[in-house]
Amino acid sequence: MGKKVARAAKLRTRTLKVKTAGMPRAGYSVLVGSGLIESSFEGLIGKGQKGGKGGGGRALVVVDAKIPRETIEPLIRNLDRAGVRWAAKVVTASEADKSLSTLEATLIEAARLRLERGDLIIAVGGGIVTDLAGFAAGIYRRGVRIVQCPTTLLAMVDAAVGGKTAANLSVPGEDGKAGLLKNAVGVFHQPARVVCDVASLRSLPLRELKSGLAECFKHGLLSGGLGDRALLAWTEKRCDDFLAQSGAALAELVARNVAVKARVVQADEREESTKPDGGRMMLNLGHTFAHAIETLPGLAWKDPAQGVQMVGPLKHGEAVGVGLVCAARVSAALKLCEKGLPARVEALLNRAGLPTRIEGLPASEQIIERMGHDKKVAAGKLRLVLPIKACRTRIRSDVPVKTIAAAIDAVRL
Ligand code: GLY
Repeated sequence: MGKKVARAAKLRTRTLKVKTAGMPRAGYSVLVGSGLIESSFEGLIGKGQKGGKGGGGRALVVVDAKIPRETIEPLIRNLDRAGVRWAAKVVTASEADKSLSTLEATLIEAARLRLERGDLIIAVGGGIVTDLAGFAAGIYRRGVRIVQCPTTLLAMVDAAVGGKTAANLSVPGEDGKAGLLKNAVGVFHQPARVVCDVASLRSLPLRELKSGLAECFKHGLLSGGLGDRALLAWTEKRCDDFLAQSGAALAELVARNVAVKARVVQADEREESTKPDGGRMMLNLGHTFAHAIETLPGLAWKDPAQGVQMVGPLKHGEAVGVGLVCAARVSAALKLCEKGLPARVEALLNRAGLPTRIEGLPASEQIIERMGHDKKVAAGKLRLVLPIKACRTRIRSDVPVKTIAAAIDAVRL
């Protein structure tokens, strides 16, 4: 666990509800505010609570090694005070460590603590930790409850909400070298509660925050039919406040984006929809392009805000931003969106200091070939989520290869 970080001013707590078909009762709450992690388990476990077994119950805290001590200590103190027996599993949050062996080590820690069905796992960290801990909770004793405490913007607005959990698989290729299949295994396991403590965003490196903003821009491009048509325009207007790490602006950003994600998940929890907008698959907007470029070595780009030369690989959110530009270009070429949308997306990414032009990309044919390995490919056809008019989406499986190639060429430096 890492360095000290000053506390942010207390914000009012917003509560959003997520109700899915897989959760027959009241669904779960997503809390957005500050200073919330320490009480994240309250009401779910502890003296006199259901699952408390007359004593305090047990909790396994799965925590990212980079989380500051000050974030986790108040939680531990409160668990002690409530008589909850706890253990901590510290996880190195890297794609290589998002593995079946880390999953197994987490499950063993749960077993050593004698965690039972009424007990709790509490995950504190970014998307890698929330995905892995969620997976452990989904399969330990065929399912225990999990409280997700995402500490990055990306995990708050995406990974921790909606019940997708995952680990990567290391699979040897024909050349004998191991390749990483990202999120190749996992289960759907909705959390018991999600706690978005925006105070933790103050300790987040700016590059990480910007990366999360790309997922928010994605939500802005698809929220037209999801009760927040103004999200994209509002996000454009407040972009500087997010970059200045204003607690109030970030809390509103998280709450509005969680509300959009919740509506998508409620309508299509298991990504089974065949609607033209893609159902939950619409959240893949920009991602088919992103997955094909985010692991590529040897990329370079200029941070548009600071003029600094950066060298790849890209962070997930950075690749998503580039993917949003490509998707908007394809959409404009097919006359599905406003003519100005690609320029609007680029301008927003530039304002946020996210890359829009990349040096060192391989030939477009090679990138399209890599896009063909995406999990969303059906019957060998590339299915692209495209942003269309009025901040809505369409799934298209018939986009000419030359249109896709032209969109990729346009982000080439
Ligand atoms: N991250 C995409 C989803 O939750 O479906």
